[in-house]
Amino acid sequence: MKARHRSEAGSYQFGAFATESEELQRLKLQATVAIKLEREAWQAAGLRSGMRVLDLACGPGFISCELARAAGPGQVTGVDLSPELLATADHVRQTEQVQNVTFTAGSVYDLPLPEAQFDFVYARFLFQHLARPRQALDNIRRVLKPGGILCVLDIDDNWTSFAPGSEAFTGFIRQSGAGQKRRGGNRLIGSQLFGLLRRAGFRNVAVRIHPLTTEELGLRTFLGLAVMFRAQMLSKPGRLLALPRLGKIRAAAQDPDAWGAVGIFLATGIRD
Ligand SMILES: C[S@@+](CC[C@H](N)C(=O)[O-])C[C@H]1O[C@@H](n2cnc3c(N)ncnc32)[C@H](O)[C@@H]1O
Repeated sequence: MKARHRSEAGSYQFGAFATESEELQRLKLQATVAIKLEREAWQAAGLRSGMRVLDLACGPGFISCELARAAGPGQVTGVDLSPELLATADHVRQTEQVQNVTFTAGSVYDLPLPEAQFDFVYARFLFQHLARPRQALDNIRRVLKPGGILCVLDIDDNWTSFAPGSEAFTGFIRQSGAGQKRRGGNRLIGSQLFGLLRRAGFRNVAVRIHPLTTEELGLRTFLGLAVMFRAQMLSKPGRLLALPRLGKIRAAAQDPDAWGAVGIFLATGIRD
């Protein structure tokens, strides 16, 4: 990864994952688990057929293709920092035979797009990785048409829970959250979105929280998506330190009474 991209990527660098194919599988699974909820949220936020849509930090493009189906015959543009993920996105687009989506390399801090071009911008699991969320929002405002809609999906560690409660779980969530913070990210972004969007000048700002529980996700998926992958965000010594805790969390998940939940934050706002 080039130096400029490294500094702009905040706490997510695809190239930094020990096993990229595993991370791709995780992103693919993550694109499916809440899709019904997301489609409903897009509709409620005002996404309509024929709109011009930007999928910001589109990653491997699964969601861009979903947006393209929801907004067709409108056009979707996917933008991401990672050339590897953009290559995957192009492959996904071809495999899914989606015509109305294109992908472009770029950073949210320096969007290679003309102003006032989009009716709808979706930013999914991006803001938790950004060191400069306000700058990102200013750039999003610039590319939205007046009256255009911003929809942000993200998480907040205060809304991640697992029972039976243990020091292993709370300690690991704390440790990995601190690790992500050191890399410029923010695992508590969900509850900060309301103020961030308002201060950036968006109007009609609203934030909804949708819980996803292990009854819906299954314990294995919950642990994979919401917990285990976070070890990859740690430095090598940090990962070693986390191993005993991860072992205890896996063991606790064998308990027939084990249960967990994660809150999906959906924030919307309108550009004046
Ligand atoms: C967790 S992934 C989410 C990908 C996709 N939105 C999804 O939900 O499947 C975070 C994405 O943000 C991208 N990213 C991080 N910093 C970025 C920046 N400054 N500009 C554009 N994309 C960025 C990463 O390359 C990665 O694809």
